[in-house]
Amino acid sequence: MSGWPKHALAAAGHPDPYPYYRELARDGWRRDEALGLWLAASRRAVDAVMESPACRVRPAREPVPAGIAGAPLGEAFGRWLRMSEGDAHARLRTAVGEGLASLPCDEAELTARRLARAFLATGAVDGLRLDALVDFLPVATLASLLGWPEAALAEAAAGIARVCGALAVDADAVARERGAEACRILLADLAALPAEGWLKRWRAEFAGLDAAVLCANLLGILFQSRDAGAGLLSAGIAWRCLGEWNHADPGEWRARLMLDPVLHHTRRFVAEDIELAGQRLKAGDQVLVLLAAAAHDPAAPEQAMDFGRGRHACPGEALALATARGALQALEQPRPNWRALGGGVTFDGPPNIRMRRFGAGERA
Ligand code: HEM
Repeated sequence: MSGWPKHALAAAGHPDPYPYYRELARDGWRRDEALGLWLAASRRAVDAVMESPACRVRPAREPVPAGIAGAPLGEAFGRWLRMSEGDAHARLRTAVGEGLASLPCDEAELTARRLARAFLATGAVDGLRLDALVDFLPVATLASLLGWPEAALAEAAAGIARVCGALAVDADAVARERGAEACRILLADLAALPAEGWLKRWRAEFAGLDAAVLCANLLGILFQSRDAGAGLLSAGIAWRCLGEWNHADPGEWRARLMLDPVLHHTRRFVAEDIELAGQRLKAGDQVLVLLAAAAHDPAAPEQAMDFGRGRHACPGEALALATARGALQALEQPRPNWRALGGGVTFDGPPNIRMRRFGAGERA
């Protein structure tokens, strides 16, 4: 693959999408008729969309995707912080935010390191194993911190992957059915976890809310950790393949994520006619918010945008970075051949994530 990405939804998987993003950012806004989307690309346009109450995380007429509405997965989805607005969002934001903030990062880092070491101890570190670690660890670390039994962590990670598959834009009936079944099992597992340790603190944060809302939002954070957490870890590993770097330093992560972001875009749905950063938008329009383009906007301050902006900004940043740090520490121990591992990196993930894959060549 070379040249310009085909369109904005293909950019995260392109080897070098940044000249393309910089051009989009210079324009600020662009309309992609084929995709049926507005592209918000400058920092000014991105900030305006993310801050506007008229730009919602779900379309007004479809708060839950039609394919899962009425099913338990749809019910859980409708309760997620990430998919809520207004008062409901503010209440959940406090509960989920406090729940995540009450976790000591050291504990998350140690858990990730321990789980990664155990995972890596079972075989040689080749590209396929790195891919498997990347898919497993973010969910497994969070599940372990919530009190999930160690022997069931792989199944929990696979279950969350099925939920992600069911919510993908291109999910078919089989993927939705698999996701629905995984959701049923995960919600039952979450309800049965002993109320100890970190989960006890979570329950306290949700004291005034329904138990089903707590379980739905625990499922929600596991879901949120999966693809973005995997993308972040895959980036950390790819940079390590290029040479030693100080992954203990959050400032170093931010600097690298500014140049080569992991989470490239999110979406907003316009609820009423409005003008934002010089662009008129109509109720019903969809906006692709190009965080990665805004990070490269030549007219804006240099700043990583990976963890979002405004009222929906990521409350999981510290946990995600701690998990990636723990994994990178564990990976040093078997002294893998970094250069060889980095030789065949490809990009293959959900459209909004720059997901590195290390084992594509080994599979062929
Ligand atoms: C442990 C891992 C993670 C957890 C638990 C987590 C949790 C969450 C939650 C609950 C939200 C919704 C917040 C709201 O709507 O108010 C969110 C949003 C977001 N997260 Fe994370 N996250 C994790 C990892 C990541 C990573 C690794 C990235 C980036 C590489 C990321 C980027 C974002 C962004 C950009 C948003 C905002 C999306 C939007 O505004 O549409 N997250 N995250």
